[in-house]
Amino acid sequence: MGPRAGTLTSAVAADGASSAASLSETVLRASGVGRAFRGLQALADYELDLRRGEILGVIGPNGAGKTTLFNVVTGFLPPTSGRIRFQDRDITGMAPDRIAGLGIARTFQNIRLFTRMTALDNVKTAQQLHGRAGFWETLATAPSFRRKERALEERAMAHLESLGLAAFADAFATSLPYGFQRKLEIARALATEPQVLLLDEPAAGMNAQETAELTDFIREIHGRFGLTVVVVEHDMALIMRLCERIQVLNYGRVIAAGSPAEIRANPKVIEAYLGADESADGREQTAPKEAQT
Ligand SMILES: Nc1ncnc2c1ncn2[C@@H]1O[C@H](COP(=O)(O)OP(=O)(O)O)[C@@H](O)[C@H]1O
Ligand SMILES: [Mg+2]
Repeated sequence: MGPRAGTLTSAVAADGASSAASLSETVLRASGVGRAFRGLQALADYELDLRRGEILGVIGPNGAGKTTLFNVVTGFLPPTSGRIRFQDRDITGMAPDRIAGLGIARTFQNIRLFTRMTALDNVKTAQQLHGRAGFWETLATAPSFRRKERALEERAMAHLESLGLAAFADAFATSLPYGFQRKLEIARALATEPQVLLLDEPAAGMNAQETAELTDFIREIHGRFGLTVVVVEHDMALIMRLCERIQVLNYGRVIAAGSPAEIRANPKVIEAYLGADESADGREQTAPKEAQT
């Protein structure tokens, strides 16, 4: 946990309150957020009060609006209604780079890496774009270029090492085993030093073993980097293991929210899944990858 969480915890302890989580601050707030595509309301009246340090799960059938939610939060698509606040700022309609720079990072349902770059360069690029060593500064100060370049390289290498990816540093991103490409994408997101990390179906295409490893990996980085995480996933084992709180989307609307146990027992949720996909049995481990919009 980061220093803020520590401060908060001691403040809570001093007050004699029972739970730190119940008092923790809101890091991201969505109020009445919607996104329409011509006639289609992909997301509607969406409300979120994301608490610092939590791992929130967002589930729902294909087409429910989960990726659209990430797109509007990260600036890839402006919402057509509502407001989004990150910490003390209104970020509604801001450009993706700006939002990333403020501290919200994401991964994509279909992995996005620089395919013709090594794993190391993928991380370096992310650090340059959003990290403290600014890209333009690096170019503009030629005399110290080599020194900065080396420092950047060392930092990227240490980052890969700390995430168990050092063995792939010099390999092209696309030559990595699938599970490691997913991890590398997360490593890239972390290289921008985010406070909030949004993961869009990180376990898609993974087998049960890989998914279990990924679950541990997410839990570990959550603690180590003091992150607040929102994870969209079809794999219920991953969701149930990671999340204290889950929102269920269907046709763009939140139809249920609560603890894993509450969600599992909610008839609306069961019906949404059964209605949307007759093969769904609550354990869609390896849902086929559909084309991303
Ligand atoms: N850029 C877009 N243009 C048009 N329709 C879109 C676009 N993005 C998403 N949609 C539509 O919005 C709905 C929600 O999509 P999406 O957010 O990708 O769902 P999910 O991630 O839950 O599967 C779908 O009907 C999808 O076809
Ligand atoms: Mg999606």
